[in-house]
Amino acid sequence: MTKTKTGFGWFMGLVLVLGALALVLRPTPPSTTPDPAALAEVREATTGGAQTLEDILRRQQGLPIDDSFRRSQLDDGTAAGMAQQLGTLGGESDSEVWRALRYGYDGVEVSAGGPVARVLMQDGGMTWLQFREGPLVTYGGGLLLGTIGLLVIFYLLRGRVQLDYEKTGRTVTRFQFIERFAHWMLAGSFILLGLTGLLVLMGRLFIAPVFGLEANALILTVSKFVHNNVSWAFMLALVMVFFMWVWHNIPNRTDITWFAQAGGIVGSSHPPAKKFNGGQKIIFWSVILLGGSISVSGLSLLFPYELPLFAKTFAVLNGIGVPGWLGMGAFPVDLAPQEEMQFAQLWHAIVSFVLMAIIIAHIYIGSVGMEGAYDAMGSGEVDEAWAAQHHSIWLEEIKAKRAESGTASGSSAAPAE
Ligand code: HEM
Repeated sequence: MTKTKTGFGWFMGLVLVLGALALVLRPTPPSTTPDPAALAEVREATTGGAQTLEDILRRQQGLPIDDSFRRSQLDDGTAAGMAQQLGTLGGESDSEVWRALRYGYDGVEVSAGGPVARVLMQDGGMTWLQFREGPLVTYGGGLLLGTIGLLVIFYLLRGRVQLDYEKTGRTVTRFQFIERFAHWMLAGSFILLGLTGLLVLMGRLFIAPVFGLEANALILTVSKFVHNNVSWAFMLALVMVFFMWVWHNIPNRTDITWFAQAGGIVGSSHPPAKKFNGGQKIIFWSVILLGGSISVSGLSLLFPYELPLFAKTFAVLNGIGVPGWLGMGAFPVDLAPQEEMQFAQLWHAIVSFVLMAIIIAHIYIGSVGMEGAYDAMGSGEVDEAWAAQHHSIWLEEIKAKRAESGTASGSSAAPAE
């Protein structure tokens, strides 16, 4: 069976996205700013070290500001004591207090809520919100619509992949019941998760203006409930599919021939394949790796602040030298709990968009795109003519096994390897 070759270089692509996110959500590290001593001199001469009007205007526009001087003042004893009573006119120095709050100065104390509640101000929250409402929706939605558009064009140009020979009427069992059960649990849950995830992300932008806030709130409450609970079915199915099919998805030499002939998608050749061909292996590993990553970041979102992932991941990537390969500065490793959640949300959504695009292509080829393909996951039985055309080595193996066990040819209930 043939599959598109989308999926090459996903890992590197995702590392790139991660790096870009790190840059988007964090201000420039102090090391790239001018000499603090010289800066302090200029600032102190003009504002006494406080932020300037220009700083405020730039921040409101979402532009980077040079706040290294103010950062450098932390913990040097110049900030007003946080224990002091704040009156209606503020404490001794409001700017000192706000600075301490903005940069998470140690003196912030809370009676409950721990490190999360101690972060009273977090600039990154605004950047996250704007990125989520802007580029994430635009590029994510564009990716899905673009994939559907390309498939329509592909269908119009190439048409359905037909069987070259008449069906024989003899079938081979391609997938056992348990395999089909796991596949449909994976598919059903993924589709529900995708739809409800898109509603949660885009409802405020697209549903609320048309149907009103009340209707949007109801739809999103139901979506969130479905999304959170169906995730368990997806994770279970992912584990089942992994153990059932991993053996057949280990790359081997036949994949090279398969890719060299573009899987027979273009032209009329039918490269030999075992149970899964090269394209299917790309789908399998995309589902496992991206689906696994979506699951882990989803768990981090499901249990807020309990499973921070990014500071440690960034530290590991910095250690390997990944930012250098990408021509970037070190990834931030000192993240507020809220920043961890923001990264988890964006990562979860971006990887989901990528996997949704891949799965749309998979659904196409497993249904309208190829004659006879659906039977494999529908009844589990495929015609020998289909098996010979798309998985010739696998069919030979089945026939050899049949011959060994003395099973008569004809309609067969022999398991797929
Ligand atoms: C609802 C629409 C879907 C249809 C019609 C469909 C159809 C199929 C078919 C026919 C096969 C067997 C191909 C063969 O015999 O070689 C298959 C395999 C597979 N499906 Fe689906 N599928 C759907 C959704 C999904 C979803 C949502 C996922 C994962 C999130 C998924 C993951 C897989 C994987 C990993 C395989 C094995 C590798 C491969 O054949 O590409 N499927 N699917």
